[in-house]
Amino acid sequence: MGKEKGRLKSLSSTKLIAMTVRDILKMGGPHPLLAQPVQAFGTTDLQSLIVNLFDTMAAVNGACLAAPQIGVDLQVVILGFDQNERYPDEPPVPRTMLIKPAITPLDVDMTDGWERCLSVPCLRGVVPRHARIRYAGFDPEGHTIDLEAERSHARVVRHECDHLIGRLYPTRIADLPKLGFTSVPYPDLDPASDD
Ligand code: NI
Repeated sequence: MGKEKGRLKSLSSTKLIAMTVRDILKMGGPHPLLAQPVQAFGTTDLQSLIVNLFDTMAAVNGACLAAPQIGVDLQVVILGFDQNERYPDEPPVPRTMLIKPAITPLDVDMTDGWERCLSVPCLRGVVPRHARIRYAGFDPEGHTIDLEAERSHARVVRHECDHLIGRLYPTRIADLPKLGFTSVPYPDLDPASDD
C-alpha cells in the first residue's frame, strides 16, 4: 500500500512538472510586440506564470526568459544562473523575477558581447549594449526592485526587457556579419543543446 502510494505520488509530480513546461515561441512566429503591465501582484495567476517560466527555463537549461516567449503578453522576466559553460569567466547572475521593468543606462559606453536566445535557436550574435545599467521594477509580491548591474548581468537584463517590446537581439546587431551559427564560434558544442 505504502509502495503504491509512493508510486502515485511520483507519477503525479512528474505530470505536474511536465504541465508547467511551455513551448517557447521562435523568431518569425507570433511573439507579442508590446507586453502589458501587470495589474495585480501576489495573485495565483502571477505565481503560476513565474513557476511556468522557471520550469520552462530549467527544461532547456536557459539563463533567462520573458513571459512573451511563452505566449503570455505581460511585462514579466526571469533571469539567473550560477555558472555558464559558454562564459566561464563571467560572474553568476542572481536569480531574479522582474516585473514592469524600467532601465536607465549608467554609462554612455557600449560593449560588444555574444548573445543567444531561446527564441532564436542555433544562432549567436555580437550585440552592443550599455556596460552598466540601473534597473527598477517589482517582484511578484509587489516589492520594489532597484538594482545596478554590469557586464553579463546588465546584458541579460537588457536582452530580456527587449522581449517585452518585441525586440529580439538580431535587431540590435550593429554589424550583421556578426550574426552566425553557434557551430562556428563553438564547434565543440551541440548547436541545439541550450538555445
Ligand atoms: Ni531572448
